[in-house]
Amino acid sequence: MVNTATGGAAVSVPAAVTTWQGWDAFVQQAQRAALAADDPNWSQEEREDYHCDLAVMRTPAMDSVFTSVRRLLLLNRHQQAGARRGLIISGPAATGKTTTMMALGRSFQLSDRRRHPGRSERRPVLFVSVPPASTPKMLVSEFARFLGMPVTDRLNQTQITNAVCDLLCELGTQLVLVDDVHLLDTRHRAGAETSDQLKYLAERISATFVYSAIDVEASSLLHGVRGAQLAGRFKIFHHRPLPYASAQDKAVWDALVAGMEALLRLRGHRRGSLVKFAAYLHARTAGRIGSLSHLIREAALIALAEGTERITKQLLGEVELDAAAEALARPARPARRGGAMAT
Ligand SMILES: Nc1ncnc2c1ncn2[C@@H]1O[C@H](COP(=O)(O)OP(=O)(O)OP(=O)(O)O)[C@@H](O)[C@H]1O
Ligand SMILES: [Mg+2]
Repeated sequence: MVNTATGGAAVSVPAAVTTWQGWDAFVQQAQRAALAADDPNWSQEEREDYHCDLAVMRTPAMDSVFTSVRRLLLLNRHQQAGARRGLIISGPAATGKTTTMMALGRSFQLSDRRRHPGRSERRPVLFVSVPPASTPKMLVSEFARFLGMPVTDRLNQTQITNAVCDLLCELGTQLVLVDDVHLLDTRHRAGAETSDQLKYLAERISATFVYSAIDVEASSLLHGVRGAQLAGRFKIFHHRPLPYASAQDKAVWDALVAGMEALLRLRGHRRGSLVKFAAYLHARTAGRIGSLSHLIREAALIALAEGTERITKQLLGEVELDAAAEALARPARPARRGGAMAT
């Protein structure tokens, strides 16, 4: 079943979600009102902004990840930090891994707030992204940055690590989300040492760790002695592109397209006209939700800019997608608009 994870209205994600302020703003974000397409109080610019950033849809992958992590949290409840089990969300690019992970953190934090009302000092979730070419100090500094701890050049890695672990313990952090762990290339010294640092943090912090990675099995992370240890402690959830083979697959995909279509606020749009192209949309995007969202949003923005206010199959055919989707797309299509973006 696919519906909007946020109850049907658009939610925009603030830029710095890897800081507590940005993360908490994302979690608390009120649902942006979606007015009627012809509402006179809604300017063209506001409608463009709305279509730039449509709501996040609840997907079957999210449901599976939520269930797996809920079970892990229970399993880990009375375990020493080092014996805790975690989850790696792994899959090709643009399949929605980060979005799923953020929706997980949001849902967990909201339920923590309900269980601990008035305890605004709590930090139930930590969300960081592995920096490119990370060193162990850079990684732990990301944890510190999220917590708003001042990190000066005079502090060494051990001091930062100790301060981060103590603070996370005090703040009741139970879920640590680390995005893009495939950036840790353990064939090189810095990557290997940073992966050791991540393992060390998981041993010191009494939380459940969830990582996201592009195709983790193909990366160096699960290889060698270090990799064997990680593989022994983490389950892998495969965040695959959505299939379109069985009747059930089609029902899920069609519901996703219908859900996105219901968010459109175009004056000339007839409800149900986009879902008719569901099979075509799957062929164009190879089932990647990121490419689907891009295609629909860009087509909507062009329809707004050109004043047609409706998405036709020809318009969809003219929108050029990301290179991965274009390489995987099945049928031949008419010439494109050269990636022109409505502004
Ligand atoms: N559940 C969803 N509902 C609506 N849009 C989504 C959803 N999941 C992903 N998207 C859209 O797809 C885009 C790509 O998603 P996301 O960044 O989560 O993918 P990813 O797998 O983490 O990509 P990468 O491998 O590049 O890190 C997002 O910017 C968002 O617009
Ligand atoms: Mg991502």
